[in-house]
Amino acid sequence: MSSKLETAATVSERLLTNCSQIVTLSGPSRPRVGAEMRELSIVRDGAILMHFGRIVAVGPRSEVEPLASRDAEIVDAAGQVVTPGFVDGHTHLIFAGNRADEFELRCAGMTYQQISEQGGGIRSTVRKTRTATEGELVDTGRKHAQWFLRNGTTTVEAKSGYGLTLESELKILRAVRSVSEQTPLRCVPTFLGAHEVPEEYSSDYHYEGPSYVELIIREMLPAVAQQRLARYCDVFCEPKVFSVGMARQILTAAKALGLELRVHADQFTCSGAALLAAELGAKTADHLEQSDSVSIAALKAAGVQPVLLPGSVYAIGSQKYAPARAMIEAGLAVVLATDFNPGSSPTASMPMVMSLACTQMKMTPAEALTAATINAACSLDVQHDVGSLDVGKVADIVVHEAEDYREIPYWFGGQRPAVVLVGGERLAQ
Ligand code: NIG
Ligand code: FE
Repeated sequence: MSSKLETAATVSERLLTNCSQIVTLSGPSRPRVGAEMRELSIVRDGAILMHFGRIVAVGPRSEVEPLASRDAEIVDAAGQVVTPGFVDGHTHLIFAGNRADEFELRCAGMTYQQISEQGGGIRSTVRKTRTATEGELVDTGRKHAQWFLRNGTTTVEAKSGYGLTLESELKILRAVRSVSEQTPLRCVPTFLGAHEVPEEYSSDYHYEGPSYVELIIREMLPAVAQQRLARYCDVFCEPKVFSVGMARQILTAAKALGLELRVHADQFTCSGAALLAAELGAKTADHLEQSDSVSIAALKAAGVQPVLLPGSVYAIGSQKYAPARAMIEAGLAVVLATDFNPGSSPTASMPMVMSLACTQMKMTPAEALTAATINAACSLDVQHDVGSLDVGKVADIVVHEAEDYREIPYWFGGQRPAVVLVGGERLAQ
């Protein structure tokens, strides 16, 4: 993550107190599976002491308040519930424009895939993103960052994928880095050059040069790795987009360059994409709406974390959510994420995603909170800094307008946190 982890807070000592519940998510430094996903480790009537942006004590008020010096700035949680900042493990943070026009078409009955096959979808956002300057993308990215922060998300994974040329993919990844440097949002970058086959490479254009997969492997991946612009490589693995064979080539090349792997898998077809994620030892397989029991077993055997994106199922008007219960029962360390993007999931709200996870996938509120914090942090390998409220971690903390954590997914569609602290600094809401 960005160097701001080491940035000193402007006030050296802060005490957050009068918390009805502090949901610490404290525990081992690894993803939570099975029944562990329901163990939240809650402190009642608690307080948190922070020094220079890091947590130095968490516990009952009676134990923590005496540790604070007279100079400590007090933040009153007003008897409300406190959690770690949300970690959103799958976002397409940087893009130009929006697709409200396609939303209207879907409302009239067209499907997401039909719109895509007619030249809309990802390709329409690619056209707009290619012509945007880096500065314009940073400005839009900063606006999106505020949306995340206002909803209590303090860390996001951020993918490229709306450029699909060497220069425009690098432009997007540099914009991710700038947003991470210029806003309090912590961003973990992922290269997704294989998000869609660009128009100029589709057969309609009778293109005869090297294939797009070759361009990714020969030019894009080496540049991304050499400029250290991404930590992960992702592929949209779907029969009509990047087949399992193409995805295997790209992901194998990425791994050889030191990138870790994430895969958009089984979103529309159970095509072996999750099996590929397992075969290659990917960190995550994402979507998985169509995954079968064989795929779930393979993810478990390989230790791949499933990243479930119910916001995209909801927004494209599908009924088929990923089989979250089967995954939890199989012992998978489930992650929830927004899939924030202008097409299939235009939301930056983790509480909304948690609500969908509870009502549509039958996850419990405790499982949803684990999936939105510590499990997501593990999926991005940032669990030593964020994802739980443990001594030594950065003070990324949310005070919710609620007395009980179950209210977070219960009040849906617009509840905003009362206070968000990033690195111990209170954000203007
Ligand atoms: O995760 N399926 C591929 N990618 C995105 C959608 C991107 C878009 O529609 O612009 C997803 O759902
Ligand atoms: Fe996505």
